[in-house]
Amino acid sequence: MKYRHVLATLVAATMATTVVAGDTSPAQLLKKFEAQAGTSGSPERGRALFTGTHTGGKPDTPSCTTCHTTNLKGRGKTRAGKVIEPMALSANPSRFSDSAKVAKWFRRNCRTVLGRECTPGEKADVIAFLSSI
Ligand code: HEC
Repeated sequence: MKYRHVLATLVAATMATTVVAGDTSPAQLLKKFEAQAGTSGSPERGRALFTGTHTGGKPDTPSCTTCHTTNLKGRGKTRAGKVIEPMALSANPSRFSDSAKVAKWFRRNCRTVLGRECTPGEKADVIAFLSSI
């Protein structure tokens, strides 16, 4: 291989890992949570959880869409105005590619919105939903 080809291959490989950085994939995580829950993830249940209004969490964040908005292919915003990249896999392929990140934000956001952690079944539903849109 010529030097230039080696360089091009390296650049392409680096770009690929930048787009999907991490140690896992939406499909792998879906499988893991489905196995823990003993049931399949449901996009419909995931939609209901993600777009629904909940009580039990912080009053100023009653829904996942409070920050992520109802246009999940578009950007969201934190309460402090920091931009959040799109949640839909079709608009943001780097979602659900890093186990630690997924665990951290499910824990934090489910507590904020629901006042408790999400169950493995609910996590499977959310991933199934965000993979389907
Ligand atoms: C208070 C604002 C806020 C609310 C409400 C919120 N989120 Fe988030 N969410 C964030 C931020 C900030 C991030 C991290 C930034 C990023 O990933 O772009 C994030 C990231 C995530 C991630 C990480 C995805 C990944 O792998 O990249 C998941 C999963 C998630 N949120 C699920 C939820 C669910 C489910 C709810 C509702 C129960 C919810 N969020 C409600 C702000 C929020």
